[in-house]
Order: sequence, then structure tokens, then C-alpha cells
Amino acid sequence: MVALGADHGGYCLKEAIKKYLDEQNIAYEDFGTFSEESVDYGPIAAKVGHFVADGKAECGILCCGTGIGISMAANKVKGIRAAVVTNDFCAEMTRRHNDANILCMGGRVIDEETAVRLAKIFLETPFDGGRHAKRIGHITQIENGEL
Ligand code: RB5
Repeated sequence: MVALGADHGGYCLKEAIKKYLDEQNIAYEDFGTFSEESVDYGPIAAKVGHFVADGKAECGILCCGTGIGISMAANKVKGIRAAVVTNDFCAEMTRRHNDANILCMGGRVIDEETAVRLAKIFLETPFDGGRHAKRIGHITQIENGEL
């Protein structure tokens, strides 16, 4: 299960990713927005973030104009590691090294074809674990006020 969300700036990317997920028979929950009408990204990031953090989806994909605001908002949810990505290398590495659980992209930064390709890489790449698990542990410690 993949949790999806976008504001008006990322709506087109979300719809392109939905089409790809449909073609691949990958289940998703769409938390909106459902048009290009202006909407605030925070509440949408919160819904997707909590859905992922609660274990109701394995991961999420969030899109706004740049991917930045919606990632900042999602990263405020405990347990979320949301990463803004613009190229294939970062899409792969944020799974392998950061165990990112939400992919963020910007509709004013990349085109739909790129977004679908990055989503595919993100969904198909596992976490490397090993020395990186300790580093993720540090992120969790910061989140818990222990570091
Ligand atoms: C909306 O205009 C825009 O600010 C938003 O989509 C996003 O880019 C914020 O980071």
C-alpha cells in the first residue's frame, strides 16, 4: 500500500504516479488534493505522514510545487523520513542509505515522466541496512529528544 498526497503544485505528478500504480496493480490510498485549485500542503502531508507512521502503508509519495514544503511538513510526523528527490541517483540512495519512507517531488521542478521513473526506483529499492541502520537510529534518537 502506497499513501499519496499533493497540493495544487504537485497535483499533476500525483495523477501521473496514480496511473503508473494502476498499471502495475499497486494498491494506493489517495489523500488528495483532487484538482489544481489552490490548497495548503500541511494537512495533506499530515494525513499521509500519519498513515505511513501508523503502518497503514509501507511508504508514501507527496508532491507540491518544489517538494520542499510538503517534505518539511511530513518530517514533523514522528517516524517519517521524507526525502525530496530530483534525480535517479537520489531516489535510489534515499532508500538504500536513508530508508526514506516518503518520497517528495516538485511539480514545478520535474516533469511527469521523471516523477514516475523516480517513484518506480523508490518503490523497488530496498534499504541496505548494516552501517546505515545505526545512522537511522541517530535520526530516531534526535526525534525522541535523546540526542
Ligand atoms: C504553492 O504555491 C507552493 O508554495 C507549494 O506547492 C510548495 O512548493 C511549497 O514548498
